[in-house]
Amino acid sequence: MKSIKLVLAAVAALFLAVSCGQKKNAPRILVLYYSQTSNTKALAEEIASSLEADIEQVLAIKPYDGEYEKTIQRCIQERESGVLPEVQSIKADLDSYDVIFVGYPIWFGTYALPMAAALNSIDLKGKKIVPFCTFGSGGLSSSTKDLARKFPDAQILPGYGVRAARMDAMPDEVKRFLIEGGFIEGHYEPLEDFPAAHAVSEEESDIFDAAVYGYRMIDAKARSVAARTVPGGTEYMFTAIPTPHEGRPAPETSEMIIYVSVLDGKDPVFTQVVR
Ligand SMILES: Cc1cc2nc3c(=O)[nH]c(=O)nc-3n(C[C@H](O)[C@H](O)[C@H](O)COP(=O)(O)O)c2cc1C
Repeated sequence: MKSIKLVLAAVAALFLAVSCGQKKNAPRILVLYYSQTSNTKALAEEIASSLEADIEQVLAIKPYDGEYEKTIQRCIQERESGVLPEVQSIKADLDSYDVIFVGYPIWFGTYALPMAAALNSIDLKGKKIVPFCTFGSGGLSSSTKDLARKFPDAQILPGYGVRAARMDAMPDEVKRFLIEGGFIEGHYEPLEDFPAAHAVSEEESDIFDAAVYGYRMIDAKARSVAARTVPGGTEYMFTAIPTPHEGRPAPETSEMIIYVSVLDGKDPVFTQVVR
């Protein structure tokens, strides 16, 4: 009897040692996000549940009105006055996390003002930061650069961004993104690199026009393109030049990269714009 107890105790000790070891090695992850109209909230919740991570929402003390135009007007005033909105203080103990997923809607090309206010109140020195965002047309790369400037002593890892109009594609893309980043187990086919770009053909120009048609923020003509095969279709990387209009000031950006996806049986859609 005594020897059975000893064996059980040894097994229990071994199990404890193994489980403690696992906990010690697994990064402790917090998903911190701001969302006004719930797109980023849905993305944050998808990431947090896939990772079984803690999650916290940044809340503006005076919430932004749900209407788009009212929010724009308030933001313009705040940006001009240089006064960020007040936000509730963050409850999570940041010291107890290794990786912080920082999520936000893109406002005026970068992270939304309430997230800017929240980031002012914390120090992410030494942390790994994974940016994620939702946007009308793009802003992942510009906001990631802003995060890197804000936290020069943090390690900024590759991020994920999705258009508000493509939220249905988000769960699959998030899964792939988390596997690629080594955060969850799973298999994915690595994408081939884009080959060298060539001048757009008439057919490719039509694909570009169809993808951006009706999106008033992109008034541009495709110049060159590279295409690669992706699961279920083709992805194009267009370089486009804003269309000059007589009587209008010259566009701020001289060139933009626009990614377009054409999945089998589906119309072309643009997935993001990098300015
Ligand atoms: C004030 C404001 C500014 C915005 N600026 C941009 C922008 O510069 N670029 C862009 O692609 N989308 C922009 N958008 C669109 C939002 O990024 C997009 O709708 C986002 O999915 C909203 O996320 P949420 O539902 O989590 O609030 C803006 C929206 C608002 C309200």
